[in-house]
Amino acid sequence: MKHLAIFASGRGSNAEAIIRFFQNHPKISVALIVTNNPDAGVIQIARQYHIPYLVISKKQLSEGTVLLKTLQEKHIDFIVLAGFILLLPPYLIDRYPGRIVNIHPALLPKFGGKGMYGIKVHEAVLKAGERQTGITIHYVDEQYDHGAIILQKTCAIQEDETPGSLMKKVQQLEHYHYPRVIESLILKEETLHS
Ligand code: GRF
Repeated sequence: MKHLAIFASGRGSNAEAIIRFFQNHPKISVALIVTNNPDAGVIQIARQYHIPYLVISKKQLSEGTVLLKTLQEKHIDFIVLAGFILLLPPYLIDRYPGRIVNIHPALLPKFGGKGMYGIKVHEAVLKAGERQTGITIHYVDEQYDHGAIILQKTCAIQEDETPGSLMKKVQQLEHYHYPRVIESLILKEETLHS
């Protein structure tokens, strides 16, 4: 069994889509939720699905002891960021080479980087007059929204689109594709190493 940790700071709708997708999966299980936000909706989701969760401060994240200990205890093989707001420290990226991914609600390299999250992304896309937007799933490196791109999916922007309507459309793409990409990456890695 491969064990997955989901890092999230907010509502956790992607975390929920991933948890549901891997419920009863024969080879992959969601073993841990990590959040920096004690008020995050994702904590309710962790409780609802009986998944252990860890709340860590920014300081604890940069220092590493608590997080590394927990990742080891839960035998975490792969880390998925789903709306995690803090930059990952280098020790974590070194510990999980090629095994940390993120999802961004736009077509990177456009509309990414520090401060580009939530509704702000969709506002910027509309303001720029784009005719399409979408999602980007990418490996995580030491910069925001920067690592190698794994998958992009697009959707059209209508004349009467609002940031809110765009957000909903993009979320549907996220919830469908993110769990499937995670599954294929983990299973591919398993094949390579067996
Ligand atoms: C998603 O749009 C994701 O692309 C971005 O943060 C958002 C998280 O939303 N990285 P939710 O908490 O999963 O609902």
